[in-house]
Amino acid sequence: MSHSAYVLFAATLMTGAAMAGCQRSTTAVSTTAAPVAVASGDTSAARGAQLVLLGGCDDCHTPQLPNGEPDMSRRFSGVPAGSAAPPSIANVVATENLAWSGPWGTSFPRNITPDVQHGIGSWSLQDFIRTMRTGTDPQGHALLPPMPYKEFGRLPDADLTAIYNFMRTVAPSSNAVTGP
Ligand code: HEC
Repeated sequence: MSHSAYVLFAATLMTGAAMAGCQRSTTAVSTTAAPVAVASGDTSAARGAQLVLLGGCDDCHTPQLPNGEPDMSRRFSGVPAGSAAPPSIANVVATENLAWSGPWGTSFPRNITPDVQHGIGSWSLQDFIRTMRTGTDPQGHALLPPMPYKEFGRLPDADLTAIYNFMRTVAPSSNAVTGP
């Protein structure tokens, strides 16, 4: 290693140590809903598709085939109409129909396809961002667990816009999710 490379390496180590020290002296991770600072600025549906993968939206909103794979022909259509609710004991998820039971009651992941009547097709971008930030949808319904709006709501506007733009590209589903 050349001298200058070594100095750079040592400086990097010291910076790392200083940063680690800073992290230790910080009390706790903030629990406020401030948006995270880093935004790519890319609002394309392609970027939204990546964020949707990371957000695990399919895990809760797409019905599963018997082998546990998401049924992409029914992507984001929510709990199939007429499904039985899971047993009303704490923290049970009925994976075959996506519904969850917990101390708060029973939640039915919604149809979030662009279907105007049964999905979120009538939502504007502002409706979507407000719902993700506040946990209350345009109909005034407060979203139940485990919808992770507290986490998604911290994404920058550009990322939420990308997710919205991608969600507009999936096939509309007329599945009518029943639930509170
Ligand atoms: C861990 C499960 C889970 C994950 C992951 C999840 N959701 Fe949800 N989502 C839910 C549940 C449950 C509801 C319904 C809550 C209720 O009925 O109050 C919901 C509701 C919603 C609603 C409100 C629909 C309406 O009509 O009010 C939107 C929009 C939504 N989810 C979008 C998303 C998006 C986009 C992602 C991925 C970035 C995602 N969700 C990931 C569980 C989840």
